[in-house]
Amino acid sequence: MTFSYGFAEAFAIHRRRAAGRAGRSAIAIMGMMAAMAAAGCRTSKPALTPLEAQGKQVFAVGCAHCHVYNNWRITPAPPDLHGLFTRKTLPDGEPATDAEVERVLMTGKGKMPSFAYQMTSQQMTALIAYLHVYKAGPHK
Ligand code: HEC
Repeated sequence: MTFSYGFAEAFAIHRRRAAGRAGRSAIAIMGMMAAMAAAGCRTSKPALTPLEAQGKQVFAVGCAHCHVYNNWRITPAPPDLHGLFTRKTLPDGEPATDAEVERVLMTGKGKMPSFAYQMTSQQMTALIAYLHVYKAGPHK
């Protein structure tokens, strides 16, 4: 499993397609994107850093089916992870720190499997970075 499909590739594909259709509109789109970047994209969700974006992919592939959709109908339902690091404690009462979340992911917990052999340490770092910005409401 790889999570290497990033913004750079998406952007490159977009650029190629745009160039195929009309060079001018490609330039217009790029100008717009530059303007949005300059404005900090205030009209929409703030952009994720490349690391957070990678973490979002890891979350989508490895966590969302339980923590968002509870596809396997686990009871009690896996806890909602929005704003995980905005509270002092994790759902089980342990301190909400990077180290504690990593420990849970490495060892597993109750009905949650261990991810020790499912992720590289780089993916773990990216996932933790994403969980820090994963908040309820208009989050990143
Ligand atoms: C098979 C379903 C499943 C998957 C996949 C899963 N989880 Fe969980 N997760 C659970 C359940 C169930 C609990 C509650 C465990 C308990 O307290 O017994 C839990 C608990 C947690 C907790 C709270 C732990 C605590 O100490 O309170 C965190 C944080 C967490 N999961 C993060 C993740 C992340 C990040 C991923 C993706 C890498 C993930 N989980 C994938 C089912 C899952």
